[in-house]
Amino acid sequence: MKIIKSEDVVIEDVLHHFENEVVVIPTETVYGLAANIYNEEALKQIFILKGRPSDNPLIVHISSLEMLESLIEGTIPEEYKVLIEKFWPGPMSLLFPAKKSISKIVTGGLDTIVVRMPKHNLILDILDKLKKPLAAPSANLSGSPSPSSVQHVVDDFGSHVNLYIDGGDCEVGLESTVFSILDNKPAILRPGGITKEQIMKCIKRDVSLNYLVDESKILMKVKSNNQDKLHLDFNKDKEGLMSPGQKYKHYSPTNKFILFISDRKDITENILKLIKEDSKIGIMKHKNTFYNPKELQNLTIFDLGNTKKQICSNIFKGLRFLDKKCDFIFTCSVDSNDEGSAIMDRLQKAATEIYILD
Ligand code: TXA
Ligand code: MG
Repeated sequence: MKIIKSEDVVIEDVLHHFENEVVVIPTETVYGLAANIYNEEALKQIFILKGRPSDNPLIVHISSLEMLESLIEGTIPEEYKVLIEKFWPGPMSLLFPAKKSISKIVTGGLDTIVVRMPKHNLILDILDKLKKPLAAPSANLSGSPSPSSVQHVVDDFGSHVNLYIDGGDCEVGLESTVFSILDNKPAILRPGGITKEQIMKCIKRDVSLNYLVDESKILMKVKSNNQDKLHLDFNKDKEGLMSPGQKYKHYSPTNKFILFISDRKDITENILKLIKEDSKIGIMKHKNTFYNPKELQNLTIFDLGNTKKQICSNIFKGLRFLDKKCDFIFTCSVDSNDEGSAIMDRLQKAATEIYILD
């Protein structure tokens, strides 16, 4: 197993790994487990390594519009052109009808394909020289928090991968937005680095965005109108408008992770009710997290930052960090405007239990 810093990579020396194997790559969102889309053995290896269900399709990474055209059926829709112009390279993945020749391993058996151009110069140069797109899901074991540093990936896969490219901490820290305009229905299939507001401003029409929350996690629903206030959408019937991946267990730490839909309430008492004596407590805090440290013993704080961009970039780092040292991890909701919808999507999916406080 080799870890090479991105600035030390000599592309010609590593290209054969990209032809034949799974390689860990940095992107601006999260680290990816990359394989050339024309090498079925390497593609299969991605699913084996991650323990990923085969019906969960992969995002394909490209460096040029020619490469995009080699993957899709028909022409690029006008509204996509506007989004591409504005957000590529960047954390925006777009759903297209797939060319019939594309491996079903990539598409999970669907007739569509999700494509993005990552904002990472080394990866774009590698794609140019390889002249083949790379399929790359997030480089974490299925179900565990996504990786925003190379160490996170090493923690999950160790020597099962030969080559890791270390690009430092990922700038965005959570995954790209998956967006579809097929059937003339603009919809965010997974909220991410580009917000609904940014997309609507660009295409000048409404965009739907649905969460899929496992309601069995919600243990204390004190006042149901809280849901409206926080724009949480607990409607399960909208599953059809989401990515296949949204239905699986996601991002979960090993220990208990509790999300308070708290709307600036002090969470100290609720924490004390939930822990056992001598429990090691972790709090991922941001500007709407209120607690009394004097009443909480064995406490470790992970500061997520205060702006939503900072919170995005720290969520997975915080979950992985606190999971190593705490029995219980707590955090509080943010409003779902702007990057808030991506933050709430990840927190709700990762949570073991959700409490709506009044
Ligand atoms: O930021 C990202 O997108 C990262 C980096 C590495 O690029 N990749 C990533 O891939 O997050 P992954 O596999 O962890 O998530 C891909 C998501 C899944 O929810 C999957 O179901 C969805 O995209 N997806 C892929 N192809 C799809 C398709 N044809 N239709 C609907 N959803 C699709
Ligand atoms: Mg993933």
